[in-house]
Amino acid sequence: MKLRVILSLVCAVAVLRAEDKPVSFYNDVVPIFKRSCNGCHHPGKLKGQLDLTTYEALVKGGKHGVSFKAGDPKNSLLIEEITGEEPSMPKEGDPLTKDEVALIERWIVQGAKDDTPASAKSLKLSEPPTYVVPPVISALAFSPDGKILAVSGYHEVLLLEADGTNLLARLLGESPRIESLTYSADGRFLGVAGSAPARFGEIQIWNTASNTLEKAYKVSTDSIYGISFSPSADRVAIGCADKTVRIIAVADGKELLKFDSHSDWVFGTLWTVDGKRLLTGSRDQAMKLIDASNGQFIDDINKLIEPILCIARHPKEDIVAYGGELGISRTYKISDNQGRTAANNDVNLRKTFERLPGPVHAIAYNKDGSLLAIGGAGPEVRVFNSGEAKRVAALKGHSGAIFAVAFHTQTNLLVTGGFDGTLRIYEASKGELVCSFVPVPLKVGPPIQQAAAN
Ligand code: HEC
Repeated sequence: MKLRVILSLVCAVAVLRAEDKPVSFYNDVVPIFKRSCNGCHHPGKLKGQLDLTTYEALVKGGKHGVSFKAGDPKNSLLIEEITGEEPSMPKEGDPLTKDEVALIERWIVQGAKDDTPASAKSLKLSEPPTYVVPPVISALAFSPDGKILAVSGYHEVLLLEADGTNLLARLLGESPRIESLTYSADGRFLGVAGSAPARFGEIQIWNTASNTLEKAYKVSTDSIYGISFSPSADRVAIGCADKTVRIIAVADGKELLKFDSHSDWVFGTLWTVDGKRLLTGSRDQAMKLIDASNGQFIDDINKLIEPILCIARHPKEDIVAYGGELGISRTYKISDNQGRTAANNDVNLRKTFERLPGPVHAIAYNKDGSLLAIGGAGPEVRVFNSGEAKRVAALKGHSGAIFAVAFHTQTNLLVTGGFDGTLRIYEASKGELVCSFVPVPLKVGPPIQQAAAN
């Protein structure tokens, strides 16, 4: 008898303990949202105008205002949506288990506190980073008027005078990695594809008149690449590590198109001259032509030969140049492949360029399309006459791989950047180095870091 009393007491205590155990927003609730909800409720896709990716956003609520009342689950829209015979949320997929619903209820009963650690809250920097060694350069772009050179940094894009003499602005953003940079044709916007790998991709749209962040849209839950503006700059396209291609409205971030016929990472996107079609290049070896108005797949324009790492469009014509994993670059007419025959199944191929010693990471046309600059694993960038695929110059002096090349918009000056963190400007047709410099302010670091820089 006595024993039984003690036993039931112990049990009661145990039950009490389970119910009182504080529920952690970050460790318990967030993983449920991530799995079952965030696909429709994130900054790039605000179903019900609700973002569930941060505590702050959850507090803000959606179309019907605040989604929970701390201490009062019965008056919390969030609970209403996930409970009942046929819970309305998640809108698709399996409903939450009873335990999960109970857990979220308990979190609200306990006061709905935020315990997200500061390190996970935001990746935003309050001031520009300090560099002790030059950061690897992954992206470069000249403004259409030729006055400004945009350079990728860590968490930022640096704007320099075109000749590199003066640091004009530092555009700080949330993404640690800047994967790709492009100006809209009218020069009003600078578009940035940024990433926090395995966390998010981010499209940043900077206003070039004020150097302020006009819009920032999170897309995908992994890296994004190869950003390009439509000719009228009302839309941007990106390629994604999740194998999709997306077109986003610049004004409100609405996802207009999600194309998922690639089977590997998509590194490049570009628009045809008339803005009606989109061309994408992927590690799956294909360049796919897509109807930009409805996302319909038109055709692979090329024979599949090697993973495609970078693409560039001729400035005036529907011709694309790609750089491949095997070190080869080729140019193609951007057109469907209907004429293919057994004898010649690469009908759009125009030219094949001399093979580089390693993968090609960067490719760019000059202002009139007569020159093509190609760089990659090898320490030199080669410049070719694009029509004949004849080499006209080799740009030497790099130490390490090249990840970005960009021609000036009015001259044949070419800027190159990559692993060594140094920008080099060349007179591309002559192969002459004009100047070289580190684009970021460097802090003199402790001895060990100086050694690394040397
Ligand atoms: C497949 C997409 C999808 C998924 C997944 C999804 N939702 Fe929703 N959610 C919607 C849509 C769409 C609405 C807008 C209302 C409607 O059409 O029912 C909405 C509305 C809501 C609202 C109301 C917001 C307001 O203020 O009107 C809440 C709360 C909500 N969802 C919570 C959740 C939770 C919690 C989950 C995960 C358990 C979830 N949703 C998963 C699509 C989704």
